[in-house]
Parts: sequence; structure tokens; C-alpha cells
Amino acid sequence: MSNHVLNRTEGHVGVATLNRPEVLNALSVELMDQLIAALEAFDRDPNIYVIVLAGSEKAFAAGADIGDMADASVLDMYNKNNLARWLRIKAIRKPIIAAVSGFALGGGCELAMHCDIIVASESAQFGQPEINIGIMPGAGGTQRLTRAIGKFRAMDMILTGRFITAKEAYDAGLVSRVVAKEQFLAEAMRLAHQLASKPPIALRLAKDAVLAVDEMPLSAGLEYERRVFYSLFATSDQKEGMKAFLEKRKPKFEGK
Ligand code: CAA
Repeated sequence: MSNHVLNRTEGHVGVATLNRPEVLNALSVELMDQLIAALEAFDRDPNIYVIVLAGSEKAFAAGADIGDMADASVLDMYNKNNLARWLRIKAIRKPIIAAVSGFALGGGCELAMHCDIIVASESAQFGQPEINIGIMPGAGGTQRLTRAIGKFRAMDMILTGRFITAKEAYDAGLVSRVVAKEQFLAEAMRLAHQLASKPPIALRLAKDAVLAVDEMPLSAGLEYERRVFYSLFATSDQKEGMKAFLEKRKPKFEGK
């Protein structure tokens, strides 16, 4: 089996790197299965607190593999239901940082939007160009892009298929940080290690509460946040964090 996703760990950080350079990391079914296996293994591993999902300098991912779908009938698509896999990425509980350089198109843009923080290189280009091949986004693009950048900019991108630069994406709210091309991976790793020094249970629950904004009305979201906030007082990391603050020392978090 080819290694379409390379995995490594660095301290408490798990790194998954997409590796189909000959097709700009097009997201074949095999690649998606390997990616999901990697993300779920990191999510289960008690020593991993934060995940980095990276592509290459040239391409984060140029979308779903068009060759996989070109001759498919509606029944093939319905029966295979490949898009259902994306729910497993949505279900990852640990924070995922996308390290994006070059093309993040179609499913590639949607993959970045499944992550929690997007670090983009100045050369990154984001787009939902599915319209140009007779389809439309299918892995959440119409919903997540619209939530991220608003109806009018999302419509512009999805109906024209045009790409936007990292700077435009940052200004529109699609990207967390933009850095020089040579720096995108180093910056994503630096940020990942910074997050990995935080209390890991609070990190996971904070991610969960932020994502609840898409699922709940404000009053339910506020109630949910309050309950999750109170629950953190059951962790030793809360005791340690506050004690360390009062004793004017650095906290030692243990994920308990
Ligand atoms: N699927 C399969 N192969 C792809 C691909 C994709 N999404 N994107 C690029 N490739 C392949 C090309 O066919 C080419 O292969 P060959 O060398 O064998 O010809 C190789 O990668 C390099 O690509 P180009 O020669 O086209 O490189 P370029 O620099 O001229 O253009 C590009 C780069 C603008 C990204 C162009 O490749 C492109 O438009 N790709 C398709 C982008 C796209 O439409 N993505 C949406 C896919 S559908 C989707 O994602 C649905 C969904 O939401 C679930």
C-alpha cells in the first residue's frame, strides 16, 4: 500500500503530512482512509495533545481526486457514500492546525476548514472550483465557507470558482495567520508546541465549545459553555493552573 500520508510525532504533537506530490495531494479514497486512520490514532494517543495537518509547499491539496469520480453514476456516488468519511474528521477532539501552502482547492479547502487553526504561507491559494468541472462543493464547503467568510464572498468564490490569496483569505476570516513561504510549517509547529504546553483537557473542551456555535442557538450555546466551564473544576490541571498563578510560577499540566 502506498504511503499517501506520512505520520510522525514531535513531543506531544502529532504531524500528518499529505504525500501524493504527483497529483498535488489530490484526496483519493485511499489517501482519505490513511488520513482518517492517522488522525484517529493521534486522537486516541494519550501522549498527543495537538495535531498538525500539512501538505507540501506547492499544494496543501488540490481537491478530491477527479479521476476517482469522473465516470461515476449517481448510484455509484450514493452507494459508496465517500463523503460520509468527513464526519470522522469532524469528530476528532484534539485541536488540529492546518499548515497550508500552495493550492487548497475544493476538498483541499474543505479539509483546511475541518481544522481548527489555519496557518497559511503567503503563497497559499484557497478556492472551491468545483463549478468548473460540473459539480459543487460536497464536503461542507457551502456551509463552512459561508460561516467563515459570509454569504457574499462565499457565493463569489463558489459560483465563479475563483481562487483567493492567503492575504484575501486572512482579511475575509478564513485563515488564522499568514507567514512567509519558508516559514509556514515551522510556524505551525511552533504554534502546536505552544498549544501542547496548555492543559490538554481544557484545550479539547474549548475546541468543542467553539464548534458548538455552528450547532446551537445562542442561549443553548451559552448554557453548554457554562456546563463545560464548570466541569473543568474536576481536573487537577485547573487546581495546578490556579495554584501556580497564585504562587507566581509556571504551571505543570498533566492532562488530568
Ligand atoms: N484530482 C486529480 N488529479 C489532479 C487534481 C485533482 N483534484 N488536481 C491536480 N491533479 C493532477 C493533474 O491532473 C496533473 O497530473 P498529470 O501531471 O498526470 O497531468 C498534476 O496533478 C499537476 O496538475 P496540473 O498540471 O494541472 O498543475 P497546474 O499547476 O497547471 O494547475 C491546479 C494546478 C490549478 C490546482 C489544477 O491542477 C487544477 O485545477 N486542479 C483541480 C482543482 C479542482 O477542481 N479541485 C476540486 C476537485 S472536486 C472536489 O474537491 C469535490 C469535493 O469537494 C468533495
